[in-house]
Amino acid sequence: MKIISITFFYTNIRPHDTCYFALITTPSTIDLYPVFCYIPFMIVVNGLTKDYGITEIFKDVSFSVPERRHIGLVGVNGSGKTTLLNILAGKEYHEKGKITGIKGKTIGYLPQIPVLPEDLTVYQYLLSSFDKLIELKKKMESEKDPPKQHLLNEQFEHLGGNLIEPKIGKVCYFLNISEDLKKQNINSISGGEKSRVLLAHILLSEPDIILLDEPTNHIDIEGIIFLENFLNSYKGTFIVVSHDRQFLNNCVNHIYYIENKSIKIYKGNYDKFETEYEHEKQRLEKTYKQQTEYIKKTEKFIRDNIEGQNTKQAQSRMKKLEKLEHQTSRKTDCPCIQMERNL
Ligand SMILES: Nc1ncnc2c1ncn2[C@@H]1O[C@H](COP(=O)(O)OP(=O)(O)O)[C@@H](O)[C@H]1O
Ligand SMILES: [Mg+2]
Repeated sequence: MKIISITFFYTNIRPHDTCYFALITTPSTIDLYPVFCYIPFMIVVNGLTKDYGITEIFKDVSFSVPERRHIGLVGVNGSGKTTLLNILAGKEYHEKGKITGIKGKTIGYLPQIPVLPEDLTVYQYLLSSFDKLIELKKKMESEKDPPKQHLLNEQFEHLGGNLIEPKIGKVCYFLNISEDLKKQNINSISGGEKSRVLLAHILLSEPDIILLDEPTNHIDIEGIIFLENFLNSYKGTFIVVSHDRQFLNNCVNHIYYIENKSIKIYKGNYDKFETEYEHEKQRLEKTYKQQTEYIKKTEKFIRDNIEGQNTKQAQSRMKKLEKLEHQTSRKTDCPCIQMERNL
């Protein structure tokens, strides 16, 4: 048997789904072999249900977030974007459902109203993004034995210890955190400044998962472009809520769209999502129209024939009609993005 090629692929991206090896032995023979495979997931949500009293936000929602996925979370105002980020960050209770995968991962969360340790200066807080390196530095400085000190020094350099200051400098430059601001106590700075400082802290810490709720609200265009570039090349996973179409287009590779208490996943950036959504809407409208016409015709047939010679046919069509679940047409015009970047 001559093997022409072996291709590995998976049919669906959920944990425990069947994966396949495709063994191609002749140009027209493809054998599929199911195999066990491990797909690294950062977050797996199963059957999530959340309400605020009588307001139901999510109903039996399931989705997953594979490693390194860059997600734009969109939906109309009040659809539950902030609620979902709060739930994923462990800040909000949910009635039903299981969230797995996230335990043990480092998370950086920028909520719309940031909470920071008030007893530090901005610089001290930014420096704490590198707490492991700082600890190593302290150990190195207190080590008396020169060979051991040399070893610790090598380790410090290898882990990027010498880059701490340049990294802080760069992030502060683009997020408009001045030398003056760095010296101030966090409890004396404004809400907008706190947002920028927390964002800087998250970017410097490089956590496994970044959750950002409207991060562009408090930064200028230079900061937005810097953030786009940072996220674009980010090796971890992130979920970002934003009303800035260009920003989303420039840094996400998937859109998770909240609609009708559920979440639908679209591959690609925001523009691609919008095009696909529009096509779906047109398909649904077409089906809706066809079904409406069919129902009208069938109802007329039933009315005209229920008592005549064709009564059996009329009764049978009546049963069919009862079974038919009328497709509802999508009435919204994808109003997920209500604001665009003003250049
Ligand atoms: N703490 C709360 N108590 C009651 N209702 C809430 C609370 N937080 C949010 N909501 C409601 O839940 C819905 C979803 O809110 P939110 O997640 O903030 O939406 P989004 O971020 O998509 O605009 C809204 O109708 C909002 O009014
Ligand atoms: Mg919100």
